[in-house]
Amino acid sequence: MDKFLNKIILGDSLEVLRQIPDNSVDAVITDPPYASGGKTTGEKSALPSIKYAKNKVVHRPDFVGDTKDSRSWLHWCVLWIGECHRILKDNGYFLMFSDWRQLPTATDAVQMADLVWRGVVAWDKGLCSRAPHKGYFRHQCEYIVWGTKGKCKKAVHAGPYAGCLRYQVLQKDKFHITGKPTALMEELVKIVPEGGIILDPFVGSGTTAVAAKKQNRNFIGIEKTEVYYNIALNRLKEI
Ligand SMILES: C[S@@+](CC[C@H](N)C(=O)[O-])C[C@H]1O[C@@H](n2cnc3c(N)ncnc32)[C@H](O)[C@@H]1O
Repeated sequence: MDKFLNKIILGDSLEVLRQIPDNSVDAVITDPPYASGGKTTGEKSALPSIKYAKNKVVHRPDFVGDTKDSRSWLHWCVLWIGECHRILKDNGYFLMFSDWRQLPTATDAVQMADLVWRGVVAWDKGLCSRAPHKGYFRHQCEYIVWGTKGKCKKAVHAGPYAGCLRYQVLQKDKFHITGKPTALMEELVKIVPEGGIILDPFVGSGTTAVAAKKQNRNFIGIEKTEVYYNIALNRLKEI
């Protein structure tokens, strides 16, 4: 276990997850590639920088794994979430980000991997979210599908946790095309007590790891895109 603890591992998450011991982490908190961002196959298979980057002034590098169709995405999610199930301690938490398009598939995947699906937390990004035109409801939320490995135990160190979290994305705090606010991740890592272990198999620019470190939790991060692996290492060095 020591070879993984408080490390970011460069590699494919499924391959790395298979090497992590059973019943060894307190929570999985992760933001996988959504393989979303369009209505047609052509739109969905575009590069992340075309699908997700609304700010055309700041260029951020592309990342792998975002062009699966919905059936292969579901199948792949069941495989890696199944590994997370094995690695989680009993009663451990599983939290996975999703957008509105992939939400039904993400909740299916959690249940198909034998976790107990317990709810969906809304991450409200605020009113600056873009709407295609005035007839639209803004897509101002992303979602955190959450569940547990078996029973959800009463927490003694914190809780109950907010079911809706409002955190804006700030450019100075964004290191990835789909980077999450560090403050949001700091809120989420608090579901485990200080000293607990959080696994993020899609750590990207390392936000979960940075948040864990800032909140005195341990982390294991996995990332396949080398440029983001290096960004994550640099961010960790800086704190
Ligand atoms: C949505 S991003 C995570 C961004 C992260 N939350 C942040 O704040 O920087 C998903 C990441 O998963 C990585 N990824 C995709 N497929 C992967 C795989 N099979 N194994 C490991 N990492 C993978 C991508 O390179 C991408 O950086």
